[in-house]
Amino acid sequence: MSAAKGNDYKRITTHVLQEMKDNGEKISMLTAYDFSMARILDAAGIDILLVGDSASNVMAGHETTLPITLEEMIYHASSVIRAIQRTLVVVDLPFGTYQSNPMKALESSIRIMKEAGAHAVKLEGGREVAKAINKILEAGIPVMGHLGLTPQSIYKFGTYSVRAREEEEAERLLADAKLLEKLGCFALVLEKIPAGLGGEVARSLRIPVIGIGAGGEVDGQVLVVHDMLGLNKDFNPRFLRRYMNLFEDIRIAVEHYISDVKSSDFPNEQEQY
Ligand code: KIV
Repeated sequence: MSAAKGNDYKRITTHVLQEMKDNGEKISMLTAYDFSMARILDAAGIDILLVGDSASNVMAGHETTLPITLEEMIYHASSVIRAIQRTLVVVDLPFGTYQSNPMKALESSIRIMKEAGAHAVKLEGGREVAKAINKILEAGIPVMGHLGLTPQSIYKFGTYSVRAREEEEAERLLADAKLLEKLGCFALVLEKIPAGLGGEVARSLRIPVIGIGAGGEVDGQVLVVHDMLGLNKDFNPRFLRRYMNLFEDIRIAVEHYISDVKSSDFPNEQEQY
């Protein structure tokens, strides 16, 4: 066990995440959408994998998260679930599968749990989705909340800029965070809000608060895996730390391969039967 990795938990559950917060151990979370990547992230010891509706952007090439369907999320989630041994897998409820009524929210969540084998669902919003959250929790399905910048509401916000800079919105966010905890959410994601507010929410709640662009005083961090590995070279928000430049590395490798094929260098004697 390395100090940076923290306790050597064999399997991450919602209870383990609470224990981590109680012990002051930071929680690591990344997105994953397919079997091969999820297997690497699980082997590396990531605590939570989020099958995010950001799959709509990074896997399908849509401009927003709105078009992705429940069937597509179940496909991605079941691929991730088949790869993991240790990590907790949370799956986003896509746009249009929970907002209209609590029964629909429950039915969508049951499909994700049953057909993909997920461990929990995540949905965006505060008081306006309280009844949906209640209904899902009543069925024994763990729910992760998501406040701040909620990309499914992009057409209401108009931009992807930092949320809750003004006092009124910050107060509303804090009240929503407390409500989500009271309802029984096991954790909360805060996206793109001032660091001070992120810290205030994390200190005000007992449940773990995981940030993406919410500063360092929260209980854990989440990034989109394509962004932190540099597969997306055109997305450069301030909160992003890039650990690799895979766009360039893959481009160079593929150029090399093309050149080897064209020159008949590949395959050589040892690479054939
Ligand atoms: O869909 C997603 O990737 C997310 C993260 C940004 C938290 O919701």
